[in-house]
Amino acid sequence: MATVPRQHITHQKIAEHVQRLGELYPPIPLDSVDRTIKRPWLVARKFGHVIDYLARVELEVDRNVLELLVLLPEADETNKTFYADVWQPQEIQHGLILDRLQQDLGRTAADPHLDVSFGIKILGALAHLKPIQDIAKLMYFLTGASTERQAVIAYNKINRGMQRLGETAISETIITPIKQQEPGHFAFYQMSATAMIQDKVLKPWQLFLTRVMREKSYNLVGTNKMKQYKADMGGVMADLGLDNDLEGYAREVGRVENRLLWAHKHGMEFPPYILKALKESVELYRERLARGLTVAEEFG
Ligand SMILES: [Fe+2]
Ligand SMILES: [Fe+2]
Repeated sequence: MATVPRQHITHQKIAEHVQRLGELYPPIPLDSVDRTIKRPWLVARKFGHVIDYLARVELEVDRNVLELLVLLPEADETNKTFYADVWQPQEIQHGLILDRLQQDLGRTAADPHLDVSFGIKILGALAHLKPIQDIAKLMYFLTGASTERQAVIAYNKINRGMQRLGETAISETIITPIKQQEPGHFAFYQMSATAMIQDKVLKPWQLFLTRVMREKSYNLVGTNKMKQYKADMGGVMADLGLDNDLEGYAREVGRVENRLLWAHKHGMEFPPYILKALKESVELYRERLARGLTVAEEFG
């Protein structure tokens, strides 16, 4: 552990991976979904909140693309092909399919948050400077690896849950096809971040700054630095049973950056800021529960 893999990740390898993803996984058509739900009330009770959350986050892909254009003004062909031809077209379908599912369950449509934050705009302005561009790029890949890993784990859990409930149509025509596409996204970000470290693209001061910025800005998937979404994410973890072992979850989610950024901290299993973010989300969710408030009452 805590070492960079010996196998060298070349740009050619990453480009081939992107091409393969595009060929293997065309965006999932809305009409390929079987909308049969045996017990909508039960699915809504067990997974309604999780599906609401994921539908919103998947639909926010359009903001992620805007952020990326701000952050990486000089993205190369492989990166462009990935986000424009593979990632965005796949993710937006995930969002549309889950959004329709949540409405089939009698819940309100997703309300994605599509404004690019001020922090990103500032970093974007600075990213025109080459040394900052490289830091922004590594941050972007690390964020991608962490969020896609969270997606992989969530869809695996949901799929098992749907199978247990006997909701075969949801499992086979919604969650399984979506969950097949997430590991490829994760692999892209992991390979891209690893290549930057292997090729020593960043000087020690740039790596130092990246660590500081990760510590200051780390966010769980879809929380957008907002308290309401952090509490929602705590609810997602509780509904998926991930709150029982936060350290184990931090290890899963933080493996890539622990290996790439923190290898010098021997024996550290995950960056502490990841566990801190997980704890904060779960605590905010529990506080909300204790107050007995619904999201609408608290924020509406
Ligand atoms: Fe997705
Ligand atoms: Fe994804």
